[in-house]
Amino acid sequence: MLVHNFSIISLILAILVILILEGDKRMCGIVGYIGFKNELDVKDVLLSGLSKLEYRGYDSAGICIYNEGIHIFKDAGRVEHLKTLVDDSITANLGIGHTRWATHGKPSKRNSHPHQSLSTRFTVVHNGVIENEIELREKYLSNYPFVSETDTEVIVALIEKFVMEGTEPTIAIRQVMGLIKGSYAIGIIDSETPDKFYAAKNKSPLLIGLGNNFNMIGSDAMSIIKYTNKFIEIYDQEFIVLAADKVSIYSILGNQIERNYYVETLDAADTEKGVYPHYMLKEIDEQPFALRRLISEYFTDTDYNIDADITDTLRNTDRIYIIAAGTSMHAGLVGKQFFEQIANIPTEVHISSEFIYNTPLINDNPLFIFLSQSGETADSRAVLVKIKELGFKSLTITNAKGSTLSREADYTLLIHAGVEIAVASTKAYTSQIAVMAILATKEAEIDATVIKKDLSLIANVIEGITDNKTIFKELADQYLTKRSCFYIGRHIDYFVAVEAALKLKEISYIQTEGFAAGELKHGTIALIEEGTPVIAIISQENINLNTRSNIKEVKSRGASTIIISLKSLSSATDQIVIDDVSPILSPIVTIVPTQLLAYYAALSRGLDIDKPRNLAKSVTVE
Ligand code: M6R
Repeated sequence: MLVHNFSIISLILAILVILILEGDKRMCGIVGYIGFKNELDVKDVLLSGLSKLEYRGYDSAGICIYNEGIHIFKDAGRVEHLKTLVDDSITANLGIGHTRWATHGKPSKRNSHPHQSLSTRFTVVHNGVIENEIELREKYLSNYPFVSETDTEVIVALIEKFVMEGTEPTIAIRQVMGLIKGSYAIGIIDSETPDKFYAAKNKSPLLIGLGNNFNMIGSDAMSIIKYTNKFIEIYDQEFIVLAADKVSIYSILGNQIERNYYVETLDAADTEKGVYPHYMLKEIDEQPFALRRLISEYFTDTDYNIDADITDTLRNTDRIYIIAAGTSMHAGLVGKQFFEQIANIPTEVHISSEFIYNTPLINDNPLFIFLSQSGETADSRAVLVKIKELGFKSLTITNAKGSTLSREADYTLLIHAGVEIAVASTKAYTSQIAVMAILATKEAEIDATVIKKDLSLIANVIEGITDNKTIFKELADQYLTKRSCFYIGRHIDYFVAVEAALKLKEISYIQTEGFAAGELKHGTIALIEEGTPVIAIISQENINLNTRSNIKEVKSRGASTIIISLKSLSSATDQIVIDDVSPILSPIVTIVPTQLLAYYAALSRGLDIDKPRNLAKSVTVE
């Protein structure tokens, strides 16, 4: 292997600096609205938008509306709780709203956004973290009577300070943007100019939504798609002035910027649960459609449809480095098999948050592939920033068009899975794997019709699984009643086992581990007791007998076992038998029963399936 000519130590140090500068960011959510009188009721717009942002995880919510003065409603707790606090009798056409995930100060009414300046003239909502908050407090606000424990309050305090010193408000806001180190997406109301409101962004996501007789901001398209499908991207360090009939974008220096809107294809209905009790179940069921959509995007009738720049880059790469977290990293483990076994390209998979410590020797012509459903994962972004500095090529495979990882990488491949709202990722996992399979087979010059047919068959087989859910509910009720559980598998099934384990533990809170079946006897088997569920996945002929031996081993020590197998490898007692698919692509199918088992285990425990405790959909904290 050729080692690139740079010092690993300096790489590690440089990444460390980036990580420190990047700091601790969590994914709060923001919505803002201004319209002409009698357009939409701002309360409905804000509350509906905040509900759409709930999937990101939050612990408090609040809104501020303007009607002859500022009215703030906020508290710790859910948006549903916030709705009960809002005074219905106030109508308004200007407002900003926020869901908060506590970073500075515990979840409480006092720490919830919006926050106000001392005179109450300025009101702000903020997503992100101000890393030099203490420095700013000491330098500019030493005697300021802060009300909350948040870093956010510094923003309004500083704006007001500069305005009181004679600075025009828009200049004061840009001045504050220049002083803040860290990440922010902010919405600001100046109660002296209620015909407009302001927004700004750096590193935290924020979009402008254009309406007829109103304009909006939202942390993502989903939060405001109900009202408009015309969006304008906001780039880092830009300052926005929104009025009911006009939106102006400025650089931090005050230079006006022209930018066209784009039409978002997301359907408002995609963000609804419809007939489903949970988004997770809906998204599990959507996997066949997602795969079919993927097929239509990535193939013509008889050929592949992938940007030649990407395939050329892949052809010239001597090693792929897959960087990802959580479920996406598990998809990466499967992708590695495709790139190595099908495309013959050496491939490494790295947990993005570990890349800094376990930085490998890097080849001459690496391609870094960032796998990320949301495209916003901070751990992955930190690696992207670094490898860009080093001049390496990057490809992001994501579900989120226009996301940070997509914008900042050289190339993007979308997985077209449709909005994934449940925190537990399901359809994004299978679609990520499918995209990597398509890339690898294209690189290996395998006839497009072959892989197309394989993926179409897989879509049908998944449909067969999701059409018969009763078995999964019964198995979950019968077996997944203990404190712990194990998934085991060998070869590619092992990678499915680790993802299956993550799915079960994150939503049912059953302590679950995914193990290489052969490794169990080297220690972990000591944990098997009477009734411990052990679930085995068997999709490869060469491991069938060995995995079955491992099942016997745990069974004889009291385990209650479930076997998920492909039909041609199945035995009469296997509880879940799946129609045969191409073995190397089997993870796209074998994961589905495990998603359903996790769903029903959580359901029977009465848990919050779509929003499991302590988790957020987009993890923008390092
Ligand atoms: O958006 P990303 O794919 O980058 O997110 C990475 C992980 O946080 C994510 O895959 C997480 O593990 C899943 N939501 C778990 O189901």
